[in-house]
Amino acid sequence: MTLFIWNPSYSVNVKEFDTHHKKLISLINKLHSNMMEGRGREVLSEILSELKSYTKYHFQAEEELMQTHNYPHYAEHKKKHDELIKKVSEIEKKFKDGETNITIGTFKFLKSWLVEHIQFTDKKYAVHFNSKGIH
Ligand code: FEO
Repeated sequence: MTLFIWNPSYSVNVKEFDTHHKKLISLINKLHSNMMEGRGREVLSEILSELKSYTKYHFQAEEELMQTHNYPHYAEHKKKHDELIKKVSEIEKKFKDGETNITIGTFKFLKSWLVEHIQFTDKKYAVHFNSKGIH
């Protein structure tokens, strides 16, 4: 599995959020590399929890800016955020309860979700924010 690398085609034209996305990518890679190295449940749990916290932080930052600037697609965007948080919480819970393992499938799911979300949902806010002077 190749490393998940940010590239300019992922840019949402808002510097702060590009930085957040890069951090999310690095956390997904961290989860992957630790999984491949066969790290224990405790280490993987900590990374998963770090990933969830940072994801929440990032989603909240986007949502606040969308609300402040009356972004017309706020509700549908927030719904997608809520769905991912729910999904990650489920993965985390099952993993902590010993019901499942972190697998390549988990990594692939997180990677595709993020790429798709950036490309098809986040990118939609670029024009709106840029028109408010936010870059
Ligand atoms: Fe960058 Fe909507 O998450």
